[in-house]
Amino acid sequence: MNQQNRAAWTSFEETTPADWEAVMDYEAQFNAGLVDRLLADLKLLDEPWTAYPVNRFQHSLQSATLAFEDGADEETVVAALLHDIGDVVAPYNHCEVAAAILKPYVSEKTWWIVKHHGVFQGYYYNHHLGGDRHARENYRDSPYFEAAEYFCHHYDQNAFDPEFVNKPLDFFEPMMRRVFGQPVGHAEQAERREDAQE
Ligand SMILES: [Fe+2]
Ligand SMILES: [Fe+2]
Repeated sequence: MNQQNRAAWTSFEETTPADWEAVMDYEAQFNAGLVDRLLADLKLLDEPWTAYPVNRFQHSLQSATLAFEDGADEETVVAALLHDIGDVVAPYNHCEVAAAILKPYVSEKTWWIVKHHGVFQGYYYNHHLGGDRHARENYRDSPYFEAAEYFCHHYDQNAFDPEFVNKPLDFFEPMMRRVFGQPVGHAEQAERREDAQE
């Protein structure tokens, strides 16, 4: 957007419909840069040193590679790639952040898995830290329990092998562009289901 198109108002209450038309054009351009920003954020996880066997970036690539090689659908592969991206800005609730990023673009199931992956991961280590490894049982009634259990068992808790050959980030970029190409998230899908039932 050039200078000429910059809005002149200083508060929302002064705005006119024409102002918002100009702003929304800009918003569309900004939103189109989402995948580039996510790719840059993922690279922030590429720590030069970590106490883990692999760093968070390598773990993310490994998680996505495991999902891809297991034949998971594309949004699940992208979810695996991004499931820990919230660590960049929200170390104490990274699952919620990653889930919120994905929410407009993925199914309710995939959103739910990412949102709850922390508690399902806890099955593998909470008992070593004085916690309850069975905390995931609080979600046993969810229709997505088994899918979350599968995701964590096959794509997350085991994605720390330094000898594993990860696919590079470039390999996943086209998948990200397809998944983030159009917001068709679970809220819209739920509406569609309701419409179909009426
Ligand atoms: Fe995580
Ligand atoms: Fe993880």
